[in-house]
Amino acid sequence: MSQDTIKSPALAAVIGSPVRHSLSPTIHNAAFRHTGLDWLFVVWDVPSGLAEDALQAMKTFNLAGLSVTMPHKTAVAEAVDQLSPEAGKLNAVNCVARQGDQLVGHNTDGAGFVASLKADADFNPEGKSCFVAGAGGAGRAVILALAQAGAARVGIMNRTPAKAQAAADLAGEAAEIADAEAADADAIGNFDLVVNATPVGMPHFAGQTPFPTTGLHAKQLVVDLIYQPWETPLLKAARAKGIAALNGFGMLVHQAGVAFELWTGIPAPVEAMTAAVSSKITVNSDQQPHL
Ligand code: ATR
Repeated sequence: MSQDTIKSPALAAVIGSPVRHSLSPTIHNAAFRHTGLDWLFVVWDVPSGLAEDALQAMKTFNLAGLSVTMPHKTAVAEAVDQLSPEAGKLNAVNCVARQGDQLVGHNTDGAGFVASLKADADFNPEGKSCFVAGAGGAGRAVILALAQAGAARVGIMNRTPAKAQAAADLAGEAAEIADAEAADADAIGNFDLVVNATPVGMPHFAGQTPFPTTGLHAKQLVVDLIYQPWETPLLKAARAKGIAALNGFGMLVHQAGVAFELWTGIPAPVEAMTAAVSSKITVNSDQQPHL
């Protein structure tokens, strides 16, 4: 079957399990509507272990694009025909795009993070000192993207030292590992950008911050990748000191924007995507939404 056989509307989907509460349909259908594309985005519950079958179905039935969420990010990285350099380094795919007959796996989290720094705080990591707490999937994407964007230093703090080291390998010479046991408020004060990529700050962490906030100061930018709650204890502490502070909502929207551009070749209508997903987050404030 060739691309020519695609009939309108083109179909795109998010694969994951569970995936019912995904925000991806909201954000991408808003983008399709806004750009006048006759595309439709649906959730597709694909049980663990069946990611490769989903990719085969994408080829057979000519799906135009896939978002990928838990638990399939690594399995998809291993099953696609090609990987972008970022997805290869992270061994994790959150977006599959078609290139002729080939399926290409991308990871748009890092590009989305850097785009949100620019759009929401006019911050360019080039030459800057950046600190990241957490070295899981999101932390690794952020660490790689900061290094690729030319950060002079990327400080990495993680509870499990081996994962901190693996993440440091992504950042090359810019990487510095900070001791999680001795998270030092003064040391954190030495960075231009301070990022939380751990879950500490979500409701079940009862008021905790991922690191001491006493050394934070007004020349810094503080970013918490959490966006539910909208303002974590870390962001609250930062704002109380007059520090510029962003939550993870901008990254959420911009990483979807990068995926939209990979699938369609059209600039993402970020404002329309933001508006659509904002209303959904307010409505579902008792749930932890995800893409
Ligand atoms: P995500 O995809 O959101 O990044 P993840 O891959 O599970 O989620 O990563 C979560 C990160 O938060 C990890 O770096 C984890 O540390 P470990 O590598 O030691 O597991 C970190 N993390 C989770 N719970 C934490 C806690 N209570 N305190 C500090 N760090 C925590």
